Amino acid sequence: MATPFCAAACRLSVSPPNAAPSAPGRARALARRGLVVAVRAEAGVGGINPSIRKEEEKVVDTVLAGELSKPLTPYCRCWRSGTFPLCDGSHVKHNKATGDNVGPLLVKK
Ligand code: FES
Repeated sequence: MATPFCAAACRLSVSPPNAAPSAPGRARALARRGLVVAVRAEAGVGGINPSIRKEEEKVVDTVLAGELSKPLTPYCRCWRSGTFPLCDGSHVKHNKATGDNVGPLLVKK
C-alpha cells in the first residue's frame, strides 16, 4: 500500500474502496488524514518520469565521485531537470506547482 509520501512522489490518486475517482486535491487531503486504502495511477501520468530518456528501458547513470569537476555537484531527484542527471533548479517550480518538497542529491568530491 502506498503511503501519503509515496503517493505524492509517484503522482498517484488515493481514494477509499468503491469510491468514484477523486480529484488530486481530494486524494491528497485523504492521504494526509491517513485514509489511504486504495491506490491507482492517474490516467496519462505514466509514472514519476515525465520525459527524460523515455526511449530507454531504465534510466541509470554512473558517477565516479573522484572525477567530479566541482567539490559539490547537485543531482536531480525530481525528474524535471533540463540537464538531467544534474539538477538545474527545476525542482523549485515543481514544488511550487504540486506542493511537493523534492530537492537534489548533493555529491561531494
Ligand atoms: Fe530535479 Fe533539482 S531539478 S532536483
